[in-house]
Amino acid sequence: MKHFTSVTQLGDLKDAFAAAKYVKEHPFADKALGENKTLLLVFFNNSLRTRLSTQKAGLNLGMNVIVLDVNQGAWKLETERGVIMDGDKSEHLLEAIPVMGCYCDLIGVRSFARFESKKDDYEEVILNQFIQYSGKPVFSMEAATRHPLQTFADMITIEEHKKTAKPKVVMTWAPHPKALPQAVPNSFAEGLNMTDYEFVIANPEGYDLAPEFVGKAKVTHNQDEALEGADFVYAKNWSAYEGDNYGKVLNQDRNWTVSKEKMALTNNAYFMHCLPVRRNMIVTDEVIEAPTSLVIPEAANRVVSAQTVIKKLLQDNY
Ligand code: CP
Repeated sequence: MKHFTSVTQLGDLKDAFAAAKYVKEHPFADKALGENKTLLLVFFNNSLRTRLSTQKAGLNLGMNVIVLDVNQGAWKLETERGVIMDGDKSEHLLEAIPVMGCYCDLIGVRSFARFESKKDDYEEVILNQFIQYSGKPVFSMEAATRHPLQTFADMITIEEHKKTAKPKVVMTWAPHPKALPQAVPNSFAEGLNMTDYEFVIANPEGYDLAPEFVGKAKVTHNQDEALEGADFVYAKNWSAYEGDNYGKVLNQDRNWTVSKEKMALTNNAYFMHCLPVRRNMIVTDEVIEAPTSLVIPEAANRVVSAQTVIKKLLQDNY
């Protein structure tokens, strides 16, 4: 594996879960692998879990870790080629990226969808420039269209908690006041399509995801119907993908909030969310605080997913 930008690059899922289990049980076994190697984590957007878990993963592997918040303390970066740089942006990404590459052996990048151009977002312009110009292995810490380290952690969590070989997993849209990217639901759908689980996506009309991510999932606009018999409920908000509505909030329908009444429709399902979550918009207090809530185990598994991926990148590239 040269770069890691999608869960599909994990290859055989059985092997990936076994590699993750080994990392979880032996977090310091590969400390020599990262010795004298530097991990650079570049954030164009805020983060709590990704920032801490990926640093922890690098440290567990014996790496030196540098974190760069592009919008705090670095020169303001221009990302468009051909622009006359007479404004407030002092440096171009096309110089900044190879410079960053000089200072590290592995680069993690967080760069969300900007909602300025659906084409640019879905072509992953920023992430691909890092891959093209850094000269180093690059992995996504959430890009415009995918959040593969989150999805891998979610899939590990489901694997650890499933009570049947083929559980019913429902990913449901839930309301949120601000426009959020489709990266987490796209990526989760991509990952679940690699399994033989029953996978259902529930969202209001107007919120269908891109068909290449929906894949073989059943899509319904009826949340109650979707939740019937579910073993796992994965809640997430996303903004509209389709047509001119791309990046827009079409409604904040609180009938889609995951409540105790909604969870009563399920097969005593586990509740999942990648966090951060807006309580009593996405999910009620009592559901997220219930013993069946997996939000903290998911977050804990972010170290495992990051460490498994970084370990593989080190093994395959050095
Ligand atoms: N789930 C997740 O990626 O959290 P952060 O945005 O806090 O990193």
